Amino acid sequence: MKHFTSANDIESAPSLVEEGLILKADPHQSKIGTNKTLGLIFFNPSLRTRLSTQKAAFNLGMNVIVMNIGKDGWNIEFEDGAVMNGATQEHIKDGVAVISEYVDILGVRTFPELKSKEKDYSEQVLNKFKEYSSVPVISLESATLHPLQSLADLITIEQHLIKRPKVVLTWAPHPKALPQAVPNSFLEWIKLTDADVTMTCPEGYELAEEFTEGVPIVNDQNEAFADADFIYAKNWSSYTHYGQVLDVREDWTITQEKMRLTNRGKFMHCLPIRRNVVATDDVIDNSIVYQQAKNRECAAQVVLKKILEANG
Ligand code: CP
Repeated sequence: MKHFTSANDIESAPSLVEEGLILKADPHQSKIGTNKTLGLIFFNPSLRTRLSTQKAAFNLGMNVIVMNIGKDGWNIEFEDGAVMNGATQEHIKDGVAVISEYVDILGVRTFPELKSKEKDYSEQVLNKFKEYSSVPVISLESATLHPLQSLADLITIEQHLIKRPKVVLTWAPHPKALPQAVPNSFLEWIKLTDADVTMTCPEGYELAEEFTEGVPIVNDQNEAFADADFIYAKNWSSYTHYGQVLDVREDWTITQEKMRLTNRGKFMHCLPIRRNVVATDDVIDNSIVYQQAKNRECAAQVVLKKILEANG
């Protein structure tokens, strides 16, 4: 594996899940990262990704350096050929080239602006990291994908040992416009397993076809929940009416009453979660969301290990 920015960068999701679980059982079995450094660059906030990826690197013997570039760095210029006589002081080309001189693997988190579909889905920032970095790049969540989260989600589902589970990805309410990265990525990865996947959302919240291809979309949430083994809830802003929060009359909050329609289904969410908006307290308190968060560690660890193995 050179970079890790989507499911396209891996050979086999089931093998990666299996190796992740082996590392989870014995996190200190390999110190392949000794004398290597991981750099983590954040343009946006993070709790889980930041801490779990650091922990994963420490488990492998790596050193870690972290920078909140949006807060602590110079203002970054992204346009090629820009005449930098305005507010930006550092070109992305120079910044990334320099950071990659200090590290052996470089992680970056960058959210979409949710203003232009074309700009966000071109993954401008992530691709500039890949272009200008002299070391492998891992996505800590990009404008359209969150592969480390999805790998942790697959590991979590695998731990429940349900053969061909029915997995439902459901849209849930939120007061602000959020990215489509988590649901896009979840669909991309879950399709690589034997799970029976359904997506449910109000009309207007369908995701890009490249992710929903082959996935039934049901607009009736109760119908979709019937007999589900896993309910994966997430809010996202509209892809069709790009970046907008649409007027949805129905109550899409996940409640215990809705969970009773499932096959004793497990509630999943990537966190952070707005309690009693996305899902009620009792749903979250009886869920597997902390297990998911814990699995971010072994997911990151298996990815870092694979990259170190492949790149010496
Ligand atoms: N799920 C997730 O990526 O959490 P953070 O935004 O806190 O890293």
